[in-house]
Amino acid sequence: MLYIGIDLGTSAVKLLIMDEKGKIQKATAREYPLCFPKPGWSEQNPEDWYEQTVAGLKELLGDVDRSQVAGISFGGQMHGLVVLDAEDRVLRPAILWNDGRTAEETRYLNETVGREKLAACTANIAFAGFTAPKLLWMRRHEPELFAQIDKIMLPKDYLTYRFTGVHATDVSDASGTLLFDVKNRCWSEEMLDICSVRMEQMPRIFESYESVGVLTPEFADELGVPSGVVVAAGAGDNAAAAVGTGTVGNGMCNISLGTSGTVFISGTQFGADQHYALHSFAHADGHYHLMGCMLSAASCNKWWMEEILQTKDFAREQQLVERLGENHVYFLPYLMGERSPHNDPLARGVFIGMTMDTTRTDMTQAVLEGVAFALRDSFEVARRLGLYPARTKICGGGAKSALWKRMISNILNLQVDIAESEEGPALGAAMLAAVAAGAYASVEEAAEAIVRVVETVEPEAALVEKYEQRYQKFRQIYPAVRELYPVIE
Ligand code: XUL
Repeated sequence: MLYIGIDLGTSAVKLLIMDEKGKIQKATAREYPLCFPKPGWSEQNPEDWYEQTVAGLKELLGDVDRSQVAGISFGGQMHGLVVLDAEDRVLRPAILWNDGRTAEETRYLNETVGREKLAACTANIAFAGFTAPKLLWMRRHEPELFAQIDKIMLPKDYLTYRFTGVHATDVSDASGTLLFDVKNRCWSEEMLDICSVRMEQMPRIFESYESVGVLTPEFADELGVPSGVVVAAGAGDNAAAAVGTGTVGNGMCNISLGTSGTVFISGTQFGADQHYALHSFAHADGHYHLMGCMLSAASCNKWWMEEILQTKDFAREQQLVERLGENHVYFLPYLMGERSPHNDPLARGVFIGMTMDTTRTDMTQAVLEGVAFALRDSFEVARRLGLYPARTKICGGGAKSALWKRMISNILNLQVDIAESEEGPALGAAMLAAVAAGAYASVEEAAEAIVRVVETVEPEAALVEKYEQRYQKFRQIYPAVRELYPVIE
């Protein structure tokens, strides 16, 4: 049988189709626009997601035996607010995970409602990208639209709704709304009240590997697949990526180097960071995870290469980087503000340390290193919580760069395991579909059968030492410039 995984990302939707052994038959991707209507704002049109996903599905199914398709599922960019009226019309563009407009609402939630209260209800505090502050922003700035909201959903759930007619979400994505009681895996009535939201407006909660239903007959016809194709609830893209890299069960680590950068640590027991710098979320394997999320990771490199250096040849620029651990330039990668661990929507990018002999290559190197140092900031929080994974998986577009993987291995002092497939979230989504359709008894069983490590990048003692010294300097830069961000806003 065949299973389709759809990764609804920020720059593109990536789709793949695999057999039950995890062999990928075909993969494709379709891009859509990302709009920044004001500095720090970030929006997309849900109709674009739908159109490009359907076009991608048709391409994917072009030359496979469609009668064999048994399941579909999703990994989706998290936290985005999608709102529909009673006629199922999208009320406004989706406000995305990296949108920083809710600084005031975030402050209200953390300071007036109070961090303790939020943590007691949800296991997390408010961050600007989370869904609850966006609802408060809409209530204040767009009261007429807010009054028309009939259904609230997360980005991938919009696809589920269009495909099946079922208003559903999964536990991992729901965790990022700040409306969800992570420990007990249900909506928090208190948080819904605080945000003036009614339970009927919220999607029904499923485990990620559970079936929410089947394709509508019309949609199954349009795709030419059997009408009984199961649609699994799916997961937030980080939980889906963790499934796709085999980061399931206890104490496993995955780093995602996509538009965002995340450090994801799986756990079989519920646990929260008492300072809430890391998110405490439900995992797609039925358990939990802790996660640090930086808002601009591979996107910093893309920005530097395409917007500033005006080149598409990333590999050529990176080939010129030869003196690892020896750069005098530092880069703070906060181009969209920062989430973990600073929780500062006003933070911005900074280059520091240039001299007359600084080269273009030094700055390219500083960008890559700055992202790796910022990942280490989240990793340090995990270490303070007593979590010491010695190795990590890695995925996302940035993980294609051997240089970047080597930097990460040395800056975090971790063995970095590379899985056979780089398709983290889309593969994880297809695996969730396979579990929902009964091909595997559990997500762990699917991961055991499907995920294979093909290479490991080992940290090198001398470089670890050099980078340790540089990291200790890097971590002093943000506290020194933080006060300036509101001044330059
Ligand atoms: C996670 C987060 C990002 C998005 C990217 O909390 O906001 O990783 O999920 O798609």
